[in-house]
Amino acid sequence: MSEQLTLITGSKTEKYETLLPQIKALIAGEDDLIANLANVSAALKAAFDFFWVGFYLVKDKELVLGPFQGSIACTRIGYGRGVCGTAWQKGEVILVPDVDAFAGHIACSSQSRSEIVLPMLRNGQVWGVLDIDSDQLDDFDEVDHKYLSELVQWL
Ligand code: SME
Repeated sequence: MSEQLTLITGSKTEKYETLLPQIKALIAGEDDLIANLANVSAALKAAFDFFWVGFYLVKDKELVLGPFQGSIACTRIGYGRGVCGTAWQKGEVILVPDVDAFAGHIACSSQSRSEIVLPMLRNGQVWGVLDIDSDQLDDFDEVDHKYLSELVQWL
């Protein structure tokens, strides 16, 4: 697999349609989880220039910071805490158009304005979350939900 991404300008859907097959190829044949999560966060950051994109992994009773792209972030999040801990608890994707309106949101950066968190499940158990932050309000929608949900199933 070539270690170069082909990135395009265009609609969000067009970007995901171009990027996701490349991500699939990038992680195929590599079974090291951390290597794959690191490349996925870098690919998403490169394609969309998200403010922050990364993973938190379930370890004992907390989410612990995993591979990410962006500014330094809180390292541990409790079950049911913040957007990430809530996505873990509910086992559901959480879309937050305005982080200031989400009770309990954990502000790792004051520049973060909207957020999407997707739980990653295996055998019905959440083993981590994909967390993406934007510095724009209301930056995530059903298109992100659809394509990112597909992506996390490959991990
Ligand atoms: N905002 C998240 C915390 C993680 S940072 O955004 C990287 C939350 O409320 O869980």
